Amino acid sequence: MKPLRIAVLGAGLVGRRHIQTIRALPMVAELVAVADPVADPAQFDLGGAGWFADSRQMLDQIKPEAVIIATPNNLHVSQGLMCCERGIHFLVEKPVTASLREAQVLTRACADSGVKNLVGHHRRYLSVAREAKRLIDEGALGALVAASVLWATRKPDDYFDTSWRTQPGGGPLLINAIHEIDMLRYLCGEVRSVGGLASHARRHFAVEDTAAALFEFDNGCLATLICTDAGFSPWTMEQGSLENPRFPHSGQSAYRLVGTRGSLELPVLRHWCASLPDEIGWDRSIAATNLAVAYRDPFQAQLEHFQRLVRLDEPPVVSVRDGANTLTATLAVLQSGREGRRRSLFEKERS
Ligand SMILES: NC(=O)c1ccc[n+]([C@@H]2O[C@H](COP(=O)([O-])OP(=O)(O)OC[C@H]3O[C@@H](n4cnc5c(N)ncnc54)[C@H](O)[C@@H]3O)[C@@H](O)[C@H]2O)c1
Repeated sequence: MKPLRIAVLGAGLVGRRHIQTIRALPMVAELVAVADPVADPAQFDLGGAGWFADSRQMLDQIKPEAVIIATPNNLHVSQGLMCCERGIHFLVEKPVTASLREAQVLTRACADSGVKNLVGHHRRYLSVAREAKRLIDEGALGALVAASVLWATRKPDDYFDTSWRTQPGGGPLLINAIHEIDMLRYLCGEVRSVGGLASHARRHFAVEDTAAALFEFDNGCLATLICTDAGFSPWTMEQGSLENPRFPHSGQSAYRLVGTRGSLELPVLRHWCASLPDEIGWDRSIAATNLAVAYRDPFQAQLEHFQRLVRLDEPPVVSVRDGANTLTATLAVLQSGREGRRRSLFEKERS
């Protein structure tokens, strides 16, 4: 299979990781250009790729066949539309767009143009997440009853020197917990209703520093999610899974999934079930098995999937439309908190 001729828009925190991933997988993708009006090209191993300050000029001059959009959220829609207009396939970082209205516009443009699209919910490519999905689908836990998820860590104070991070949209719900909400949709099914509460009691910024959410899924499963960037704990997917080298490994699980026949901790992948087959009940012994799966860098697995999506028509793991549903469920946590009532989702799609 031919490598993708790929360009990256935005060479910030996550753009750098995409550039490194492309450079590490020459059989999968060739980096043909990077566009960023501010970053310093000398800081990157570009392997001969061109550097542009202007994204539009780069697209028209280099004509890449695929693009990774790793720019601030408010640029995702316009840059996605630029790709659609030019027939360029794209992977856009999460959240798919800054608003639901923009997500609708981009979904329509993708459908009209036929451009292949993917949203960077890279956590779905973690081997432990895939194994959890396989176990759930095969019924290893019985019927899924409930899930409990924590994302709790303390961001350093200078993280908030960048002013957008103190404003609505820059908080742990849309930056971090959106990955957990996407993972809950992956493991538990589509969200039927959402309740939420947000607090800014610790940092006093306009944006939340802590949020609590309650999810109801189509299959009747219920889940709770707590996220905070103001509390110090070992319980984030990043610390438990090795997925991000910047997070020291805690080896702790952030997810507990509970089914009628057993339970699962993630990302440690510890499976709890009856010590004696079919001896299930609160007066019966329960035992844990640590399951092992080989670690794969999720950004590398995502890039390989992007190549197959473009070359072989593999269905997208998270399309723009699917990313919009994750955004809907995430924003509903904040809306529910503001309105003081639970919100039903996707009613039109169900009727
Ligand atoms: N998948 C993940 O785990 C993950 C992690 C972090 C960020 N993200 C997402 O990635 C995106 C970028 O986040 P970040 O933390 O890397 O931000 P960042 O601020 O570190 O980087 C953004 C870069 O985009 C550049 N830029 C601004 N305008 C541009 C334009 N018109 N054309 C090209 N480049 C432009 C900026 O100069 C900057 O270098 C956001 O959508 C964010 O939510 C995803």
